[in-house]
Amino acid sequence: MRVSRTPDAVEPERLVKSRQRVADHGEVFTPRWLVDDMLDLVKGESERIDSRFLEPACGSGNFVVPVLERKLAAVQAKHGRSEFEKRHYALFGLMCIYGIELLEDNAVECRENLAGTFTRYLSVDGDNEWVKAATAVLAVNIVQGDALAMTMADGEPITFPEWGYLGRGKYQRRDFRYDSLTQRASASEGLFAHFEEHEIFTPVRTYPVMTVKEIAA
Ligand SMILES: C[S@@+](CC[C@H](N)C(=O)[O-])C[C@H]1O[C@@H](n2cnc3c(N)ncnc32)[C@H](O)[C@@H]1O
Repeated sequence: MRVSRTPDAVEPERLVKSRQRVADHGEVFTPRWLVDDMLDLVKGESERIDSRFLEPACGSGNFVVPVLERKLAAVQAKHGRSEFEKRHYALFGLMCIYGIELLEDNAVECRENLAGTFTRYLSVDGDNEWVKAATAVLAVNIVQGDALAMTMADGEPITFPEWGYLGRGKYQRRDFRYDSLTQRASASEGLFAHFEEHEIFTPVRTYPVMTVKEIAA
């Protein structure tokens, strides 16, 4: 355990759960002051509602939660005057955050921490459809799996949804395999150079356009 260097932090940050987990999984969490410094290096992207962030070893969310906080601050600045727009863009900001985590307890905590940040911002709780929609998004965006093998805990290939906000309360969703997403960078050269991008970068599933109620269902 280490004490944060953040001047106004009175609670010590818990950066290690056990020596065994450090030895087995390299599990040492990043202190908040360092996360903030690192996110400031990509300040513009971290404060854009629709920028997509993937943390392939996300732990309990020490990076992705501050990214969500920055996105929600942008939502407040741009859409805070309309409750309808504010809520829909806040959910879209959450939809643009992805994580992979090997250990189940960390993956669960990561989803809980993101959900808590989202629901506190919208002042919603319980049986509310926004809570249910956020829970549904987090169930597919934060994956318990192996980022190196690109497989989920059950051995199946990791897939991620690409969410889009179409406006007027409508969202679209297309699912892609993580391993094909990682090939995208090399698509312009080498083995895949003679393929068109759409040939190697095709969704495994495309959903009908959805409302919040339908995502929550
Ligand atoms: C150094 S910690 C960092 C956690 C978080 N990113 C942070 O900065 O606080 C590394 C995390 O990666 C997880 N991990 C280790 N191997 C992994 C793998 N192959 N795939 C996904 N996650 C992994 C560990 O369980 C641990 O939570």
